[in-house]
Amino acid sequence: MISVAASLLAADYLNIGNDIRRMKAAGADWLHFDVMDGTFVPNISFGADMARRAAACGLDVDAHLMIVNPEKYIDAFAAAGAKIITVHAEAVNHLHRVLQLIRAAGCLAGVAMNPATSPECLRYVLGDFDLALVMTVNPGFGGQKLIPACIDKVGEVRGMLNRAGIDAIVEVDGGVNLETAPKLVAAGADTLVAGSALYSAADAKAFIETVKRQG
Ligand code: DX5
Ligand code: ZN
Repeated sequence: MISVAASLLAADYLNIGNDIRRMKAAGADWLHFDVMDGTFVPNISFGADMARRAAACGLDVDAHLMIVNPEKYIDAFAAAGAKIITVHAEAVNHLHRVLQLIRAAGCLAGVAMNPATSPECLRYVLGDFDLALVMTVNPGFGGQKLIPACIDKVGEVRGMLNRAGIDAIVEVDGGVNLETAPKLVAAGADTLVAGSALYSAADAKAFIETVKRQG
């Protein structure tokens, strides 16, 4: 079963509520909510207050924290109604502790890794996270092309989980479109973030149905 997380980053910011409801009606499973601080990544986006308003539109919020010191904001995003909180392995000093904090806040805990980061960053926290997020572009901006080498990494992450007997979610973020989705699913992804390709599709429902059929 493949899930689609519609990225808010690609929405029409003057009509955000409408766009979220449009994605829900089209069959999106989650609202992927990109949080950027201008330090961990070059761009700045949305905060917890926006997450609370977005959550009220009816899709589960999948908060992707592309920020330094994400532990400072876990309670705020949990209180805002986020279902999943994902932190970058590169952005925390104590990954194990931060994952525990996320679970203690009642959310699913995710670990994200940049394209140049080895999946080995997961090895000693296997069992302590619910979701691994493989970035297939350098984080910070929507509309980039997928970096092909990252497709192999999706398979490595899935293999590592399988060998450990762990059934965590493997989510992929960046450059997902109808051409790359089948390759990502074949490599072992079960959740695909879709931003620019989904929002610019003539028929968002057909786009999501096509992606889900890959499974
Ligand atoms: C990029 C973000 C992505 C972005 C993906 O840093 O993490 O979630 O919205 O956008 P597309 O699908 O356009 O690559
Ligand atoms: Zn993201």
